[in-house]
Amino acid sequence: MSNVLRLAIVDPNDATRDSLKTMLLGMDRVWLEAECSRYEFFADVVAQTHPDIGIVTLDQDPDKALELVHRVNETSPECSILVLSSSSDGKLILRAMRAGAKEFLSQPLRLQDLLDSLERISDRKFGRGEAKARGSSVIAVAGATGGVGATSLAVNLGCALAQDPKNTVALVDLDLCLGDADVFLDTIPDYTLVDVAQNVTRLDFALLKRSLTKHSSGLFLLPRPVQMEDMSLVTPDDLQRVIGLLKATFTHLVLDLSKSYSPLDQVALQLASHILLVTQLDLPCLRNVVRLMMSFGNMKGVADKVKIVVNRVGLDNGNISLKKAQDTIGREIFWQLPNDYRTMVEVRNNGVPLVEQAPKAAITHSIVSLAQALSGAAATAEGEEEAAKSSSRSRLLGFWPVKGKDKGSKPPSPAK
Ligand SMILES: Nc1ncnc2c1ncn2[C@@H]1O[C@H](COP(=O)(O)OP(=O)(O)OP(=O)(O)O)[C@@H](O)[C@H]1O
Ligand SMILES: [Mg+2]
Repeated sequence: MSNVLRLAIVDPNDATRDSLKTMLLGMDRVWLEAECSRYEFFADVVAQTHPDIGIVTLDQDPDKALELVHRVNETSPECSILVLSSSSDGKLILRAMRAGAKEFLSQPLRLQDLLDSLERISDRKFGRGEAKARGSSVIAVAGATGGVGATSLAVNLGCALAQDPKNTVALVDLDLCLGDADVFLDTIPDYTLVDVAQNVTRLDFALLKRSLTKHSSGLFLLPRPVQMEDMSLVTPDDLQRVIGLLKATFTHLVLDLSKSYSPLDQVALQLASHILLVTQLDLPCLRNVVRLMMSFGNMKGVADKVKIVVNRVGLDNGNISLKKAQDTIGREIFWQLPNDYRTMVEVRNNGVPLVEQAPKAAITHSIVSLAQALSGAAATAEGEEEAAKSSSRSRLLGFWPVKGKDKGSKPPSPAK
């Protein structure tokens, strides 16, 4: 449970307590330890359940509630108190702080304010490193040219990540014009990125999850808009907010970028923890990788996050060796995905992901190993070292030797 904030709440008003509860229950990294409708019982509840945070709503009886805050602060100092009130009277705020409250939030409660408060309390309580460890891993999948296999990777990587019960994973289709992630998952979603972007300030977590389509693999999908003309309704600011909200809800976000490197794609690149740049071993692709890397170099922090993924290794489409490609790009190749046209077309046409349609195929094996490598890299905040270890291991796991003739050979089995 070290990754979860444990909470207890007290609010004698059933309606406001229920809406607070609904908001909290939608948050994956919050565990509602106890709820209480009477101020007089709450100190005992906290003493018995030891939550990290106690939320006290003042409105019903501010004097009684502040006395309670004072008491909990004395008897259970390890529990940080956050108070809620529909009054923003300066005197009341001062009294709450003097009683020992760590945070004061106004009703009606805005999701973002609650998140910020929890984050501040978490930072103070566990330190920044821990807070970072609680964060979500954002994986942007970009491509060096059209049809390079970016969506195939994004969808199947999302499904592979979702196989681990510790993960909660969402895929956002950022190809607003021609995106086809919904086809890969054979779903007809009720809501799209436009709906979520337009309502982002009003959404709570439960509503957010209901707006996404859950696939049988466990992956949640937020698809592109239905109508092409709705593309312009999503601004870079909206997308930033949507990603922020999704990050607070999911352990992993996979973003399938368009090939236009639009302002929205650039937001995704900026917010990503990892950028998988998918290429193939042909000249136009490799030239684009070089060009893209030059542009990424001008975007703060972006180039360092790029991991080159060579797709369709073994396809005889230009006779460029991996070594030559690596020399041309001037960058290490992070991962290789074998060529398997028949399986890939099948999974797309059937709308069934690799982990379900072809669990034993070499391409599935390689994507599952990539998911593990990326999860390992994102799992700890001490992280960098861990990530380095994991990525060198992952390179070993994912390596698919290409010497022109070994198209039919299998990738090495992953190290245990
Ligand atoms: N490893 C692979 N082996 C063989 N075929 C593949 C592989 N990966 C993807 N493909 C095939 O390549 C084609 C394009 O794949 P996909 O739609 O994923 O690419 P994309 O980069 O998302 O394209 P777009 O630019 O249209 O968004 C599909 O027919 C897919 O089945
Ligand atoms: Mg695509």
